[in-house]
Amino acid sequence: MERTLVICKPDAVERGLIGEIINRLERKGLRIVAAELRTINDDTASRHYAEHVGKPFYPDLVNFIGRGPAMVMVVAGPAGTWKVVRTLMGPTNPAEAPPGTIRGDLAIEMTENLIHGSDGPESAAREIEIFFPGLA
Ligand code: RTP
Ligand code: MG
Repeated sequence: MERTLVICKPDAVERGLIGEIINRLERKGLRIVAAELRTINDDTASRHYAEHVGKPFYPDLVNFIGRGPAMVMVVAGPAGTWKVVRTLMGPTNPAEAPPGTIRGDLAIEMTENLIHGSDGPESAAREIEIFFPGLA
């Protein structure tokens, strides 16, 4: 089994799409092993998005991710689960995300792309440790 971090971002919470997103993950065969609605503060955002600190889009990203509650989750499945989640999500830019993906079906432009998923096993372990210490 493998675990990865998923966040239903504030736009998903505002739009009432948490259920839709969790439904897609569960129908795929993944399991939710931890979940908490929380507002991500600037300090936590800078740890979570460490690779993006200093980039031109970072201020918009940190304002967006912290503008209201987000549903932060640990999701489990077979080896490669992080990639299964990324495939369900679709590409970063919703305008380019194909139909059938969460971003392709439900979002239309950056930065409001509904969902975060860890981009590899090391990212997953690092990110789970930020939000749910001991669960990685
Ligand atoms: P995430 O980390 O949120 O799951 O998204 P991702 O892996 O698909 O994309 P990533 O490259 O990690 O970027 C993180 C978030 O930053 C915003 N972004 N804006 N304007 C831009 O060029 C740009 N690039 C990235 C997006 O909101 C993206 O989800
Ligand atoms: Mg990313």
